[in-house]
Amino acid sequence: MPGKNRYPPEFGRTARAALLAGLMFALTAGADAPGPATGPMGQASGSIPGGSANAAQSGSEQPRAEPDPAAMRRGRILFLQCTACHSLKQGEEHKVGPNLHRVIGAPAAHKPGYVYTDSLKESGIVWSRQNLSRFLADPYDLVPGTSMVFIGIQRGADRAALIAYLEQATR
Ligand code: HEC
Repeated sequence: MPGKNRYPPEFGRTARAALLAGLMFALTAGADAPGPATGPMGQASGSIPGGSANAAQSGSEQPRAEPDPAAMRRGRILFLQCTACHSLKQGEEHKVGPNLHRVIGAPAAHKPGYVYTDSLKESGIVWSRQNLSRFLADPYDLVPGTSMVFIGIQRGADRAALIAYLEQATR
């Protein structure tokens, strides 16, 4: 459907790459610091020294209990680095990457109307939270040959927050 695409055709890969580079910098700038802030954009939860304690301590692969508001906020911010390439909601157009509606729990490369790489198609992956976390940590490591150009998210807590956000936002 025309009009649904957020980017005009002229807004090409270069512009997106530049945008992403800026975002990544902003996102990773504070990532190594275990200290108070979660980064320039991070909304460290409350005044607890040590910052978003919930997100930081929730570990990497633990089963999610309830959506933690701080993690959800963090996840939404982290997802900004995906929006250039992915839409979330049912019926939205594919971008550079496929629409991610209901991706969690689904087999990889199953969206109609999107041309996946053979690498992803033949991977046999089901997008459990754990597999998604591995993919987001380093797409090439899990799926060598994937066309998803993404540097990866280093911190397990960040991946968990992003996945928690995705679980809600892709329903
Ligand atoms: C530069 C563009 C780009 C960015 C940024 C990007 N992706 Fe992707 N993504 C792709 C492409 C292209 C594919 C298809 C890969 C293939 O076919 O090998 C893909 C595939 C995926 C898949 C598999 C979908 C399926 O149907 O099997 C998931 C899940 C995913 N991306 C999530 C994310 C998340 C979450 C982020 C942000 C952290 C992100 N991607 C960032 C381009 C991108």
